Amino acid sequence: MSYKCGCYAYLNLYLEKYGYHFRYFNHSQFLQDYQQMLSEKYNNDEINEISQQIKALQDSKKQEDSKAYERLQHIRKLYKPLHKNIYTFDECFLENSFKSLVAACKKGDRDLIDATRYPNEEVKVFTFRVFTKDFINLFLEEINHISNYDGIVLGRPNSMNHNGVLMKELGMDEMLTVLREEYLQPIVDTVFSDTIGECESHRGFTVKYSFDGTVFDGSGDKQLGKHYDNAEVTLNVCMQADQVQGSNLVFMGMANDEDCDRERIHLEHEVGMGILHLGQLKHYVTPIEQGIRTNLVLWLRSSAVRNKVCPMCWDSPEIVATKCMDDGFRP
Ligand SMILES: [Fe+2]
Ligand SMILES: [Zn+2]
Repeated sequence: MSYKCGCYAYLNLYLEKYGYHFRYFNHSQFLQDYQQMLSEKYNNDEINEISQQIKALQDSKKQEDSKAYERLQHIRKLYKPLHKNIYTFDECFLENSFKSLVAACKKGDRDLIDATRYPNEEVKVFTFRVFTKDFINLFLEEINHISNYDGIVLGRPNSMNHNGVLMKELGMDEMLTVLREEYLQPIVDTVFSDTIGECESHRGFTVKYSFDGTVFDGSGDKQLGKHYDNAEVTLNVCMQADQVQGSNLVFMGMANDEDCDRERIHLEHEVGMGILHLGQLKHYVTPIEQGIRTNLVLWLRSSAVRNKVCPMCWDSPEIVATKCMDDGFRP
C-alpha cells in the first residue's frame, strides 16, 4: 500500500517561472498571503493570472495518482529492458571504497564516514564514491533506452524537475531497496542516529540538466530553485557530467532554522560521487552553463519520523491512501 499526506494538494505548489513554492486553498487566501510580495514585480492582472496557474496546478496534482498508476501498468506491459543484469542487485555495482565505508559503519567504526564529511561546523554533508564506472555506463544506457522508447511517456521525477526517470517506472526499485537496506541504512544509523530511525521506503529518480535544448523536450532542466526534499535523508549520485560547467549544488541551512537561507557549501558534481544530506537541509542548483548532467537521487523515508511531523507541511500528517504514489507515511 502507499500513502501521502493530504497537504500535497495544498502546499508546496511550485511554479518554476517564479522559482517559488506557493500554498493555495482559495483565491482570497492566495491574495492575502502573496499579493504584497508579488506586487513588487507584477500588476493585479498578472497576480490573478498567477493565482489561476496555481489553481490549475492544484487540479492536476489531484489527478496525478490515478494517472501515475495507469502509466505504470502501461510501462510494465510495454517496456523491455536493455540490460536485464542491472535490475538484480549485485555488489559488483559498488565501488570498493563504498563497501569498506559501509562495513566500517556496521562495526560501529565511524572514522571512514567522518572523513567524508564536508568540513563545515554547522551542517552535515557527506561525499563519497558509490557506483563503479561499469555500472554507471550500463545504467545511463538503460535510462536513455526508456527515455526514447516508442509508446512510453514517462512521469516527472518530482514536482520540480521535468527531466528524468522514476526508478519505479524503470522497474529498478527492488534493486535500490537492497542498496537502501543493506548499505545506506548503516550509514544513516551512524551519522544521523540522533534524528532518523529506519528508512523503510524510498523514492528514486534521475534528474537531467542540460545547457542545450529546452526543458520541455526531455533534454534537461536548466537549474533548480531553493527547496528542501520530501525525504528524511537524500543520497544524490552523479551519473553523468559531460563537459559540465555550472550546475553546482549549493547547501544552505536546515529549513526550520531562522538562518536557513545563508549559503554554506558549494559543491561541484563528479561522476560516481554521491552526496548525502538530511532532506530538510535547504539547497538549490545553480544554472548550467555548458554540457549535460544526470544524477540519481534517492529520497529515503522513515515513517517513524514523518508519521509524527510531515516534512512538507510540518504538521501532524493527514495520511491518505494512494494507488501508487507513495510518500512513505504508514497508517
Ligand atoms: Fe533536492
Ligand atoms: Zn503534510
